[in-house]
Amino acid sequence: MKDKTIRLARNGINDLNEYTPGKPIEEVQREYGLDEIIKMASNENPFGPSPKAIEAMTKAINDVNLYPESSSLMLRQKIAGNFGIHEDMVTLANGADNILGLIAQATVNEGDEIVMGDPTFAAYDTRTRIMGGIPVKVPLKNFTYDLPAVAKKITSKTKLVFVCNPNNPTGTIVTREEVEDFMNSVPQECIVVFDEAYAEFVHPNIYPQTIKYIQDQRNVIMVRTFSKLFGLAGLRVGYAVGPKHLISMLRKVVEPFPVNRLAQSGALAAFDDHAFLNRVLTENEKGKEFLYQQFSKMKMAYCPSHTNFIFVDLGMDGQFVFEKLLEQGIIIRPGGLWNYPQFARITIGTSDQNEKLIEALNIIAG
Ligand SMILES: Cc1ncc(COP(=O)(O)O)c(C=O)c1O
Repeated sequence: MKDKTIRLARNGINDLNEYTPGKPIEEVQREYGLDEIIKMASNENPFGPSPKAIEAMTKAINDVNLYPESSSLMLRQKIAGNFGIHEDMVTLANGADNILGLIAQATVNEGDEIVMGDPTFAAYDTRTRIMGGIPVKVPLKNFTYDLPAVAKKITSKTKLVFVCNPNNPTGTIVTREEVEDFMNSVPQECIVVFDEAYAEFVHPNIYPQTIKYIQDQRNVIMVRTFSKLFGLAGLRVGYAVGPKHLISMLRKVVEPFPVNRLAQSGALAAFDDHAFLNRVLTENEKGKEFLYQQFSKMKMAYCPSHTNFIFVDLGMDGQFVFEKLLEQGIIIRPGGLWNYPQFARITIGTSDQNEKLIEALNIIAG
């Protein structure tokens, strides 16, 4: 297959693999003949979508014969209001994934160097290579982005730096002070992308105020999503916040209607569904504490997490555990993907799901 396409494809994509998502529920149901499946593989919200979003989408469905508002104006205004900035400093797209792709399309020329942590979210590497850029990978230190080491890798060839904060798959963060020191050492012309897909789960006291750098007209883009805390992964809504000159670049490459009508109305309603959002945060913290305790009992080390997932050292082959859990209808993400074969990334579930996971893990661990 590769030989056939080698001259047809863009140079950048010949060495890429097709994306492998977390194993879908439907596939496991079919393969194992099971009814009930617990998915703890893609960091989705186990508490469902925001009820307010469901209500809003039910109303909006009557208008799907009409194209959506192209720039998601009301949603942009809502997000801009939240950060106290102008709506032209916000743009939306079909998930944060789509935003990351737009950033690469709008900025990366062949041969540009793009600096990122390792391991981190795979899209930075893929999007860079599609555009003919060169990924420059900086190993994590104590499972955390090593910002001083990242800064050292920035050269005159560096176009972008991706900082995944909290980092996927480890769930660790770089703090406000660490980011301040880092930003003081980054050249003005280099674009820093802070991927903050899990920002809402982090305690605000220690979390960097990325918006400050944007207001100071630094070349900074903050990326966020409605897929995690807001429970709308299936709708595909993500956004970028940045100074107008950078946001305008993203708008030049985005497709005409990137966020569909239902997604716009659902995200708008979810944004203010504080009862739902607070419940998810409380339950997530409870689930995290429960899993920490249980992992410790099983002598499994883990990275303390600022997200809705935990990177855990299973002390045995992650692929083996993944397959054994599948037999019991539980899907996790084995760590081989990130070259941590004994680890797994496990999404924090409902209390019932967490208990079932631990029961199953105890059986596997013997
Ligand atoms: C760090 C990070 N960035 C971006 C995304 C993509 O989010 P979305 O569902 O909005 O495309 C994810 C999803 O898992 C993520 O973990």
